Amino acid sequence: MKWRQFFRRKPLELLLDEMAGEHRLHRVLGPVSLTALGVGAIIGAGIFAMTGRVASEDAGPAVIISFVVAGFACMLAAFCYSEFAAMAPVAGSAYTYTYATLGEIWAWIIGWDLVLEYAMSCSVVAAHWSHYLDEFVWLSFGWHIPPQFLSDPFTPIIVDGVKVMPMVNLPAILVMIIITTILVIGIRESALANATLVVVKVIVVLFVIVLGFHYIKFANWTAVPVEKRKVADITDYLDRNPNVAGQIPEGAVSSLTTGKQLLDAHPEIAKRMSVEERFEVEQLPNEAKKWGLLGVLGIRRWLQPLDESVRSPFMPYGFSGMMIGAALVFFAYIGFDSISTHSEEAVNPQRDVPIGILASLIACTLLYVLVAGVITGMEPYPGIDPNAAVAAAFRRRAEVDQSFLLRASAWIISAGALAGMSSVLLVTFLSQARIFLAMARDGLLPHSIFGVVHERFRTPHRSTILTGFAICIVSGFLPIRLLEEMVSIGTLMAFVMVCASVLVLRITRPLAHRPFRCPAIFLVAPLGVFVNLAMMAFLPLDTWLRLVIWLALGLVIYLFYGFRHSHMGHELQRQLQTQGLSPTDAPLTDVK
Ligand code: ALA
Repeated sequence: MKWRQFFRRKPLELLLDEMAGEHRLHRVLGPVSLTALGVGAIIGAGIFAMTGRVASEDAGPAVIISFVVAGFACMLAAFCYSEFAAMAPVAGSAYTYTYATLGEIWAWIIGWDLVLEYAMSCSVVAAHWSHYLDEFVWLSFGWHIPPQFLSDPFTPIIVDGVKVMPMVNLPAILVMIIITTILVIGIRESALANATLVVVKVIVVLFVIVLGFHYIKFANWTAVPVEKRKVADITDYLDRNPNVAGQIPEGAVSSLTTGKQLLDAHPEIAKRMSVEERFEVEQLPNEAKKWGLLGVLGIRRWLQPLDESVRSPFMPYGFSGMMIGAALVFFAYIGFDSISTHSEEAVNPQRDVPIGILASLIACTLLYVLVAGVITGMEPYPGIDPNAAVAAAFRRRAEVDQSFLLRASAWIISAGALAGMSSVLLVTFLSQARIFLAMARDGLLPHSIFGVVHERFRTPHRSTILTGFAICIVSGFLPIRLLEEMVSIGTLMAFVMVCASVLVLRITRPLAHRPFRCPAIFLVAPLGVFVNLAMMAFLPLDTWLRLVIWLALGLVIYLFYGFRHSHMGHELQRQLQTQGLSPTDAPLTDVK
């Protein structure tokens, strides 16, 4: 039966044989370069831009704990990744591992899912890059980039109390054009560019920690009244504003599910609000969205008392806020696995790839917790700038203290953040091209586009140009918040699958050569599945639906293209013909 091809696994031996073949990528990366690649991919928009918004709107100072939770989940996945990466050090990362363990259809699903992690996260980082560029331009020259060109057309910006609907995120498009060009030129050059950017951003992060430490006020963690927290959803808003709730006829309150609905149904109430208040109310989600999938499943009622019991100035949004925060700041950790997509370019992959993955993840977790502490310690969390939090905290401080040095520090930080995000773009985009390359080699994507390596540059140039074009469109025109959630859910799913796959392979191929063994695999892998799934559960239902649609679209492409062109599928057919078997008699084993 043809469907048996779905579950064909690519033998590990074949993966290793392929590494010795023609037209491979250059092996130029050692442990330091690999760790630098990891740090290059990890530290970026997540810490520089998203931390501020999550602290202000979702978790409060407890964003520090959110970072610990997300870091722990990544650490579990990192151990599993390391075992896999050492066993099969070829391009392709989780896609390749899943092909070797669970079979072709799962490999396709994960490969398609990784587009969310890599290509889509480039779009998010590029979109945040533009806000730091604006901060940098303001600090350098005293003028702002016109807001019409600073964000996507779905994300309004308030400028001097006036709501502006942007047209396009122009800096995001421009930076992606530059990054695409660098990547087409080649890995050697881009590794050098990356190393420089990584050094700059690590110095800047350390600078933020050391300087910011002096401005931390303990009271910002312990004494901001919980009532100052931002309104979470429409129910929360009406609870906290009885005067507004009193103007709505009884019985109509329960039918209001979003802030926008409230404003549309009651223009007389909207008219009495200030622009800022109207803007805030308009964004309010319904409670199910705020509670993610758990809210829809009705678990909110059980968790509510837990929230109330832990609510404090440090954790103003309760346990759920801290967990939602973890699911969002998880974005900041994305990238450590991109080291595994470069295994094929590693000089000694079996040793250096695990070192690179674990070293970069540990270093970044420490830095993140400290930066989150500084950001939430410098300002009361409700007032933290949601777009360029780190630089803005120092700029505001400079304005209060009339300090030239602090203003210069803010300038240095915004420049460092731009460098940092650029290196994320570089590495993440590079990883996407590597995954497409691996998929094209297996026949699941057209070789003429995704599998061709440039004669002179030795880079997958066509695939890079095509993907770069798509990223430009997405980052320039699609709503950033939704993209962030898509990236998180897609990556969490990839981690869940990697943890599951490494466990499956331990059971099905216990004797395979494992240069690196994940410690306590029967604890680490199931825990990795659980913690990553738990974070997914805090993401909104519509994000889950978008993930399902995305995966369904991928399956259609697989059925119409990958399934028919798969090399493993062709091999299977050949084998059946030579053995004189009909497809229905085919044994369900690896193709040898
Ligand atoms: N971890 C990367 C960042 O924060 C994606 O920018």
